[in-house]
Amino acid sequence: MTGPVTVYVPRDAAARSVGADEVAEAITRQDATDGRRIHLVRNGSRGLLWLEPLIEVALPSGRVAYGPVEPEDVPGLFGSGFLEGGDHELFLGPTEEIEFLKRQQRLTFSRVGVIDPLSAEEYEASGGLAGLRQALQMTPDDIVAEVSASGLRGRGGAGFPVGIKWKTVLNTPSELKFVCCNADEGDSGTFADRMLMEGDPFLLIEGMVIAGLAVGATEGYVYIRSEYPDAASIMTAAIEIAERHGWLGNSVLDSSHRFDLHVRIGAGAYICGEETAMLESLEGRRGVVRSKPPLPAIKGLLGRPTVVNNVLSLAAVPTILSAGATAYHELGIDRSRGTQVFQLAGNIRHGGIVEVPFGITLSELVEGFGGGTASGRPIHAVQVGGPLGAYLPADRLDLPMDYEAFAALGAMVGHGGIVVFDDTVDMAHQARFAMEFCAKESCGKCTPCRVGAVRGVEVIDKIIGGIEPVANIALLEDLCQTMTDASLCAMGGLTPSPVRSVLEHFPDALYHKSQVKR
Ligand SMILES: Cc1cc2nc3c(=O)[nH]c(=O)nc-3n(C[C@H](O)[C@H](O)[C@H](O)COP(=O)(O)O)c2cc1C
Ligand code: SF4
Repeated sequence: MTGPVTVYVPRDAAARSVGADEVAEAITRQDATDGRRIHLVRNGSRGLLWLEPLIEVALPSGRVAYGPVEPEDVPGLFGSGFLEGGDHELFLGPTEEIEFLKRQQRLTFSRVGVIDPLSAEEYEASGGLAGLRQALQMTPDDIVAEVSASGLRGRGGAGFPVGIKWKTVLNTPSELKFVCCNADEGDSGTFADRMLMEGDPFLLIEGMVIAGLAVGATEGYVYIRSEYPDAASIMTAAIEIAERHGWLGNSVLDSSHRFDLHVRIGAGAYICGEETAMLESLEGRRGVVRSKPPLPAIKGLLGRPTVVNNVLSLAAVPTILSAGATAYHELGIDRSRGTQVFQLAGNIRHGGIVEVPFGITLSELVEGFGGGTASGRPIHAVQVGGPLGAYLPADRLDLPMDYEAFAALGAMVGHGGIVVFDDTVDMAHQARFAMEFCAKESCGKCTPCRVGAVRGVEVIDKIIGGIEPVANIALLEDLCQTMTDASLCAMGGLTPSPVRSVLEHFPDALYHKSQVKR
């Protein structure tokens, strides 16, 4: 007999939620009776969520996939010789040839689902640390210039250029500076930050160390939402391994640079994802938004200059440094450069991760990759960018994924989460939900948001109930304008977008309910 066969079963939380642990146990049990031929690796998820648990077998010719596997399928898989790639009704063929995966251009997610997330050796062998080694040869100004030249914009929501933020921190003198990674990932339909942390934690660590070198920071924090215990434990384990390997600590890769990294668990509020509320929470206080200025880049954590970036922004940096800014900048469209990790969710047949260059249309994502709705009914609305994003109607699916094209329609790309609804959705309810969500999640600091959202729910209820509909629709529009103009942060400022999008793109929803003739 030759050496053991490597079998991959994801340890990703999405795969675990549909039974990956039980499948791994069943495989281990069966292997024990069959003579122990298997080397079992718990990898990240490939991001083809409708096929989870998706297991893979490493053959001399490459990896083949089977899925979705249930524990009861395991004896049958052994019986049909799956360790040699044997045929079975769950056989999906060579993993990389699966259409959903084959048509992607994975840069940030290139290792997710491929390697053992906690193997430092596999990380380095697959190109890990090349960006950091490159950065160690460069001056801070040159690192910032390279990131700026790539056109990378923040992936957390606002799309602010990463290079400009880093330059501000670099140019603000202080003996102590910080890099904080925003892993609060509160937007509906988003899960890429989690999957990256669970599937390739060293990439985020490498990106944060590079950010530290670029701006002169020696300490970093990863702020992970409390609902992500798997991500938190994998990140914690990865940090310990990175410390042991000298990738973190007093002498990063034997250089004169120090960088220490810590995990902090979030406080379970959507607003803690807003960067200044996150800093408050990191400092041990309730997550309440701080007034800006001063910007966190100048006065952030503990009053020191601080880089706050999303997981995906930081995780894009090692590739930019190793492959060069030009290669990254060549991808994308207009001012939206590089790739974005889109997340398909809601009522969708093939949900999961799609990393492709900006410029792809919504239709190519939700119909091409996603295969339309899971219910088989027509797509009625798509919400992009989380709960503060606009609802787009089915006839606007030609929209390219591009920050400016979305902004021109009063919508936003945000964190790349795409939630699909079929024609059974009640859009009046969705408009109400936006105000209700804001009322629940508002930090309470400013009146337009704290009070406005509560009044918004009441007004929409009156419209739905047919009470003075003409006057109340005018009042709702006025309220939306006040929230947009006068809220302290984007929570109150953007809550009107989904409401307005319902009035604009789905007028029948509220007007019909209120029996107002347009
Ligand atoms: C209400 C609210 C919630 C937010 N939640 C998140 C979040 O969960 N994750 C995130 O990265 N950014 C979130 N942001 C954006 C952050 O304030 C900030 O812009 C971002 O972390 C900066 O990183 P980036 O430039 O890399 O995107 C949120 C903003 C608002 C107003
Ligand atoms: S807009 Fe809302 S969440 Fe933002 S500061 Fe005001 S009350 Fe707080």
